[in-house]
Amino acid sequence: MKKYLVALLMAVLPLAATAAGSGAHLDHMEVDLENKASLQRGMKTFVNYCMGCHSAQYQRYERAAVDLGLDPELVKEHMIFDEKKVGEQMGIAMPAEDAGNWFGNPPPDLTLEARLRKPDWIYTYLRSFYADESRPWGVNNVVFKDVGMPNVLAELQGVQVAHCSREEMEAHGIRGTGIDPLTNKPLNNCSSVKDGSGQLTPAEFDRVVYDLVNFMAYIGEPTKLESQRIGTYVLIFLVLLFFLAFALKKEYWKDIH
Ligand code: HEC
Repeated sequence: MKKYLVALLMAVLPLAATAAGSGAHLDHMEVDLENKASLQRGMKTFVNYCMGCHSAQYQRYERAAVDLGLDPELVKEHMIFDEKKVGEQMGIAMPAEDAGNWFGNPPPDLTLEARLRKPDWIYTYLRSFYADESRPWGVNNVVFKDVGMPNVLAELQGVQVAHCSREEMEAHGIRGTGIDPLTNKPLNNCSSVKDGSGQLTPAEFDRVVYDLVNFMAYIGEPTKLESQRIGTYVLIFLVLLFFLAFALKKEYWKDIH
């Protein structure tokens, strides 16, 4: 038995290691698929700021509208910027090959991104761009070194300037929220936002990114909400069936003794 357990552990351990990725510090966020208002705000940010380059081609606008409690007509009017119908998938017009030439790497489809990278990673990634003149877009990223994506949310967040080394930021996050193990004091801020470069405060910006990643978690598993609901009914049904079967069994056996 022990042997099997060890073998199982050996088989599973490498998975845990890959999931951890680069090992840079990740800020945690709690996905909340019940929070429709958050998902709606996230969808708005997604179509406005991400779909210039990224598709979500396994998700249909209409399905998202219905799940999020939005009127499909309003979605058509305010969230679809090309000739697409509301029943169509959230694809984009940019050909992957051109995009690859422009950015070095093509922007991947984001439908399943929250399952692939996990919400904490995306949440940290989108908040971790910092000015780096040596890069083509003038920015680098703490959790995605030498990234090919520009900081598309810079007008909201502002331009972050790093004051720590990359290693320090990787260990403690760009905001330097870590605790110094020697002095037990919070570390110095690892970044500051250039004055007047962003429209939102850091807390407001975190909220925008939270909603956005919440929405991305939803498109990764659009049936999760529904399966939770159906699951409850299935359990109730099974309990009822149990009593029915029990009563039937009693009825059948009552004369045989
Ligand atoms: C101007 C085009 C552009 C826009 C707009 C854009 N991205 Fe990107 N994005 C890219 C490119 C290019 C890459 C690939 C970077 C690389 O591999 O170096 C990328 C990569 C990513 C990745 C990492 C993919 C991976 O797993 O390797 C995520 C997550 C992501 N983008 C999310 C977003 C979100 C969310 C938005 C909207 C707020 C957005 N992007 C807007 C161009 C864009």
